[in-house]
Amino acid sequence: MTGALLSLQNVWVEYGDKVVLEKMNLDVAEGAFLSIVGPSGAGKSSFLRVIVGQEQPTRGKILLDGQPLAPECGPDRGVVFQRYSVFPHLSALQNTVFGIECAEAPLMARLFGSAKRKATEEGAAMLAAVGLADSMHLYPAQMSGGMQQRLAIAQALIKRPRILLLDEPFGALDPGIRADMHGLITQLWRDYGLTIIMVTHDIKEAFTLGTRVLALDKRRHDPHAPHRYGATAVYDLPLRSRPLSESAPAAAAES
Ligand SMILES: Nc1ncnc2c1ncn2[C@@H]1O[C@H](COP(=O)(O)OP(=O)(O)OP(=O)(O)O)[C@@H](O)[C@H]1O
Ligand SMILES: [Mg+2]
Repeated sequence: MTGALLSLQNVWVEYGDKVVLEKMNLDVAEGAFLSIVGPSGAGKSSFLRVIVGQEQPTRGKILLDGQPLAPECGPDRGVVFQRYSVFPHLSALQNTVFGIECAEAPLMARLFGSAKRKATEEGAAMLAAVGLADSMHLYPAQMSGGMQQRLAIAQALIKRPRILLLDEPFGALDPGIRADMHGLITQLWRDYGLTIIMVTHDIKEAFTLGTRVLALDKRRHDPHAPHRYGATAVYDLPLRSRPLSESAPAAAAES
């Protein structure tokens, strides 16, 4: 037993004859911020989907706290996808509260009375935590890309997941907004004691935010059968116990 929060043991992801990921062995410690990089098509999003439980690996095991992963996305895992993942017909507050409703009333996704009031208060507090206190009644179409990603993060965090999975969450944002989001995610990581797994195309982002960087790529390539071999972890670099950008303030705050 490794004591890791999340453990992948010889995990493969295949679609028919096409091998996307092969022989993935990985232990992720509680509190880690794991950045995942790799070329387009390497299987980064597929990797997140099997951790979320949206898809089953074709071989191997995934353990959470030493137990086999529940088949669907449980409250222990929250996810923010590559593209905006909020519901267009719900306001920011409704989008956020919906996360609680789904967890607590899975068949009807509706809460009433005091449960509804409590969920609404929690939703409002979570929106404030991601910097959307003044935008609770806006619909996604009325929000900028950065605001929509803040909302998607609030929606993922409202269920108080232990693991937050981020699939290129800031890829569509311009540099200034991206820097703000880096500050936000670092803050949330620390405040909520999260374990984060983030896919990014931006190497600098991977190294600045992560405590560990994993590169996915193919080790072998058959030119006559490009789908024969899948990607796996080709580099696994432990960096630090805190992200670079926060190490000074964090140390100051702790003393
Ligand atoms: N449901 C599916 N059926 C068949 N093939 C799939 C399916 N989902 C993904 N793939 C294939 O798996 C490979 C990896 O896709 P994936 O989306 O995981 O890559 P990625 O690393 O996230 O790429 P990007 O950086 O462009 O987002 C691709 O070749 C893709 O075509
Ligand atoms: Mg992807």
